[in-house]
Amino acid sequence: MASFLQISDDEKGHELGLFCIPKHYEEDLDRVLIPHGLIMDRTERLARDIIRDMGGHHIVALCVLKGGYKFFADLLDFIKALNQNNDKSVPLTVDFIRLKSYSNDRSTNKVKVIGGDELSALTGKNVLIVEDIVETGKTMETLLALLNEYNPKMVKVVSLLVKRTPRSSGYRPDYFGFEVPDKFLVGYALDYNEYFRDLSHICVITEHAKEKYKV
Ligand code: IMP
Ligand code: MG
Repeated sequence: MASFLQISDDEKGHELGLFCIPKHYEEDLDRVLIPHGLIMDRTERLARDIIRDMGGHHIVALCVLKGGYKFFADLLDFIKALNQNNDKSVPLTVDFIRLKSYSNDRSTNKVKVIGGDELSALTGKNVLIVEDIVETGKTMETLLALLNEYNPKMVKVVSLLVKRTPRSSGYRPDYFGFEVPDKFLVGYALDYNEYFRDLSHICVITEHAKEKYKV
């Protein structure tokens, strides 16, 4: 079982005024739930755990766009740091895929693959899928089924967040940073209809903002 940092349902988070928040989002956010520094600290440890388990072989890190891009970049920086400061190191190559399953603040039943490279390049490789958040688990289950058609040697999944929700299929990634309450979260590349990716901390969005940015 993966170890993770659990954020309880009654965790109040932190007052916005204690952190640097872009002016254009001040009215749209409730509290800071996970400050950027804590994200980085957990990510550093995830990198160590991943290298411990996958470190024997060439890794293809597959970023699930767009929400995964910040976590992907920071995780790979930590993996790189381990690679250049250890007697043991592994080659690391990158690939990108774009999936979409969300409309407003709800997961839809259909997971669309929109773009991405030639998946046949993953055949015979050790693949590390890097995702921002697992909610129902449908996105990841769909992607895993798709990848398996291309016969990779090994597939591991790392997600920064896992949401505690009754809508979950029961799917759990191999590694994850935090287990979070069933709230809509934004920041650190997680979006609400494309907004809030330009925010460093993971925050809880207000009801007013859900209306304001609704599509
Ligand atoms: P799932 O298929 O229900 O597991 O949903 C996973 C995808 O939905 C994630 O990759 C995110 O893109 C998106 N998502 C789920 N919850 C949130 C959230 O709280 N904030 C932003 N995006 C979310
Ligand atoms: Mg995602």
